[in-house]
Amino acid sequence: MKRILLTGGAGFIGSTLAEKLLSKGNYVTVIDNFSDFYDPYIKEKNIIPLLKFSNFKLHRFDIIDKEALFQNIDKHDVIVHIAAKAGVRPSILDPIGYEEVNVKGTINLLEFAKHHGIKQFVFASSSSVYGTNPNVPWVENSQIDHIISPYAGTKRSAEIQGKIYSHLHDIRFIALRLFTVFGPKQRPDLAIHKFTKLILRDKPITLYGKGNTIRDYTYVDDIVNAFINAINFTKSDFEIINIGNNKPISLIELVKLLENTFDRKPKIIFEKEQPGDVPKTYADINKAKKLLGYEPQTSIKDGLEKFKKWVLENQEIIYEK
Ligand SMILES: NC(=O)c1ccc[n+]([C@@H]2O[C@H](COP(=O)([O-])OP(=O)(O)OC[C@H]3O[C@@H](n4cnc5c(N)ncnc54)[C@H](O)[C@@H]3O)[C@@H](O)[C@H]2O)c1
Repeated sequence: MKRILLTGGAGFIGSTLAEKLLSKGNYVTVIDNFSDFYDPYIKEKNIIPLLKFSNFKLHRFDIIDKEALFQNIDKHDVIVHIAAKAGVRPSILDPIGYEEVNVKGTINLLEFAKHHGIKQFVFASSSSVYGTNPNVPWVENSQIDHIISPYAGTKRSAEIQGKIYSHLHDIRFIALRLFTVFGPKQRPDLAIHKFTKLILRDKPITLYGKGNTIRDYTYVDDIVNAFINAINFTKSDFEIINIGNNKPISLIELVKLLENTFDRKPKIIFEKEQPGDVPKTYADINKAKKLLGYEPQTSIKDGLEKFKKWVLENQEIIYEK
């Protein structure tokens, strides 16, 4: 059993991870500011299953507030830092806001780790750091001189800060580069959730870039298992590890799968590519297999069935919100 400080624990991935950690008997402290990037109602709902655990504690404040961090939180065994301003396209409109939360916020947590002698720090990075690098599948030492969005830039900066703190302050820093995560509670701005909402309301969906963009969709429970193994990883002091599915599909294939899953024919509008969007993502996961025993368990098709079940149980999120 570990005492785990988890930032972003009210969000999609964070709340799924928190529930699993709590059910395994860990003590979990969540910091989340319930940001309005998407409807905070969804985050309030995400938190409900966590409240039944006596070993769960919630703090509502912003990770850029260093004073709140140092005053309210005490020593933990591990920091799992998931809170961030997420999303590529909005980062182009708010690069300073993204820098503040994703870089300064991460440094605040690294400072906190240093101050309390917390030796294990797991960070949610992103496949977006590989940018437009055409040589797929991407391995962790692939070229990352192809970044094309402020969001991706902040994730790479945070990885570098992790490297610095690991070197200077003896903190084990594990960055997991996550590849498009999906499943129950998925963020409403991401394609699967967004398209489902529109398809079920019989509204058209917009596909950018002729539907040719390719994504390595990865099921949230596989991501959560990778985090748990990273929390327990002790073999080296700094690692960057891809967590993907290694089975990318095109956007148009995804839409076809959604059509089959929900048994509804989507109306499609095609528009030109969006700035900041990369043409494809594709993870080489050999390092994750070797270091974390990672093996993705859920195919896109099975994961969409699980997502559908969640949609049917949470219809107000899809129909009213
Ligand atoms: N979902 C994906 O496909 C994906 C892919 C790659 C990387 N990631 C990364 O994984 C992490 C989780 O993503 P998610 O999809 O669960 O997003 P999410 O938005 O659902 O979760 C992020 C949580 O962080 C909180 N938060 C944001 N800013 C904060 C701040 N300043 N202080 C405190 N809390 C704050 C939010 O309220 C939210 O609950 C993010 O770091 C994201 O960049 C996600």
